[in-house]
Amino acid sequence: MRILILLFAFFLFAQCTPPPPIPTGVVSKNAMVVSAREEASKVGTAILQKGGNAFDAMVGTELALAVAYPFAGNLGGGGFMVYRKNDGNIGALDYREKAPLAAHKDMYLDSLGNVIPGKSTLGASAVGVPGTIAGIFEVHDKFGTLPIKEIMDPVIKLVDQGVQVTSKQADRLDKYWDQIKSVNGESTLFYNKCDAGDTLRYPGLASTLRRIAINGRDEFYKGKTAKILAKFILEKGGYVTEEDLARYEAKWRQPVVFNYKDLRIISMSPPSSGGVTINQIFKMIESYDISEFGHNSAKSIQLFTEAARRAYADRNFFLGDPDFVVIPLDVLLSKKYLQARMENFSFDSATLSSEVQHGRIEIMESNETTHYSIVDQMGNAVSVTTTLNGAYGSKLYNDELGFFLNNEMDDFSAKPGEPNMFGLIGAEANSIAAEKRMLSSMTPTIVEKDGKLWMVVGSPGGSTIITAVAQTILNTYEFNLSMQESVNAPRFHHQWLPDHIVFETEGFSDALKIELKSKGYHISEKPTPILGKVDAILVLPDGSLEGGADKRGDDTAVGF
Ligand code: DON
Repeated sequence: MRILILLFAFFLFAQCTPPPPIPTGVVSKNAMVVSAREEASKVGTAILQKGGNAFDAMVGTELALAVAYPFAGNLGGGGFMVYRKNDGNIGALDYREKAPLAAHKDMYLDSLGNVIPGKSTLGASAVGVPGTIAGIFEVHDKFGTLPIKEIMDPVIKLVDQGVQVTSKQADRLDKYWDQIKSVNGESTLFYNKCDAGDTLRYPGLASTLRRIAINGRDEFYKGKTAKILAKFILEKGGYVTEEDLARYEAKWRQPVVFNYKDLRIISMSPPSSGGVTINQIFKMIESYDISEFGHNSAKSIQLFTEAARRAYADRNFFLGDPDFVVIPLDVLLSKKYLQARMENFSFDSATLSSEVQHGRIEIMESNETTHYSIVDQMGNAVSVTTTLNGAYGSKLYNDELGFFLNNEMDDFSAKPGEPNMFGLIGAEANSIAAEKRMLSSMTPTIVEKDGKLWMVVGSPGGSTIITAVAQTILNTYEFNLSMQESVNAPRFHHQWLPDHIVFETEGFSDALKIELKSKGYHISEKPTPILGKVDAILVLPDGSLEGGADKRGDDTAVGF
C-alpha cells in the first residue's frame, strides 16, 4: 500500500512538473559567448576554439567590446566579474573605478551646497580612475592559459580592420553627437558623423593595444599610456593624476551567495549593490508561489515591486565601498530581517514608498554599461558587466589613445538625498572620498541548479540592472520560458524612489495598468522603450548551451 501511495505521489509530481521549455535561442554543444556585438562574441569564441579557457576569452571579449561597442565597452572604465570554475570554485573580481586622490565629499557642490549640473556626468571632471586593464590582467595572471599576445592578436586584427557601424549604433552616435562635440571640440574622431554600414577605425586605439600587448598592465598604469592619459585629463579640468593611475589595483572579493528554492545564486558583492539587492528581493518573494500567479500578471508584478521597493530603500542607505564603510550584511540578508520587511505587504493595496524607509539596524560606528556571459568547453563560466557609466561615459575621448573615459564619479552620492543620473538617492555610505569606489548596481550573476552550472546572466541599465537580472532568472525558473524568451520578455522596474513602476513600452496591457493603479500603484507615464539588455547562457538538460542575446540591441550569441 505504501509503495502504491509513493508511486501515486511520484506520478502526480511528474504530471505537475512542466516539461523544460524548447530552446528558442542559439544552441551550441560545447562553448558560448554572448555579448553586445557579434564581433566581440566571435573574438571570445575564437580564443576558446584555440584551446583557451573562459578567462582567456574574458580578456579578449572585454577588449573587443572596447573596439566594437565604444558606447560601453572600454579601456577607460571598469567592471565586475563573477566566475564559477568547472570544479565548483567560485569568486569575484572588482575592477571598479576609484575616486582620484584629489576627490572630496563636496567636489560637485557649489558654494551654496547645491549640485553643479553636469560636473559629475560630463567631461574630465566626471572621470574616475579606470580599472579595466588592471582587471583583465588580474584575470589573466590568475587563471589565463594562453599568452596575452595570442589573446590580444584577434582584438588588434579587429581594430586594424575596423568595425562596421550598425543602424542602432549610428542612431546612438547621432543621439550623443552634440554632447561629444561639446566636450571634445571638432578635431576628434567622433566629430565625423557615421552612417549605418560605415567602417569605424581607431588608429590611436590600435597603437595603445599594441603597447599593452608588449608592456602589459603597467603600460596603462605607469607607462607611456599613463603619462598621456593623466596629462590629458588634467588639462581638460579633471582630477586623475599619474599617481592615481600608479596606485590603482583590482580586488578579488567574495561573491554574495544565497539559495532561492533549489537554485544557488552567486552574484557580485559590494562595492556593487547588485548581489545584495537581488538576494534581498529573492528572499522576500521566496515564500510565495510566484509561478502560480502567472508571468507578468498583476499579482506577480505586485509581489516583485514590493520586494524591490524595500530592497532599494536598504541599498541606497546602507551600501557603499566595503573598504570604507561598514555594511551590516549579516542582518540585511538574514531571514528574520527580510521577513519583517515584508510584514506590511498585502495584495490588496500598494505600500507607498513614503511609508518605506531603510530598515532599522544598529551599526557599530567605525565609521551605459554592457554585460557578457561565457561558458567554455571545460565547463568554466564567467559573468562580466563592464561600463563607462553613461553612454560613451563622460563623452571625453582621447584621440591619441583611442578610447572614451568614464563618468563613474556620478555613481557616488554627490549630496545626500539628491538623485544621480539614474534617479538613485544616496546616503553617507556612498559619499565621495579619495580612493573610494563608487556604489554600483552591476549584477554579473551565475546560477547553479542541483549543484551544477545552470545559468550565466547579467545586464546593463544602471539602477534597472538588478530587476532585469532578477526577472530573467524568474522567467526561466518560475515561468518556464526558454533562455531567449526569458531575455526577450517585457520587463518592469521599481526602485523605491521615485515611487512608480516603470514598464517597457511594449508588452503590458492597459487593463493590467488600470488594475495596479486601482490598488494604489503609481505608474510612470514616461515612455521607456527598454529596461536592461540582458545577455545570458542556460545549460540545457542534455548539457548543451542556449544563448539569450537581447533582441533590444545588436547582441549576439556565438558558440560551437
Ligand atoms: O555601476 C553602475 O551601476 C552604473 N555605472 C551602470 C551604468 C549602466 O548600466 C548604464 N547603462 N545603461
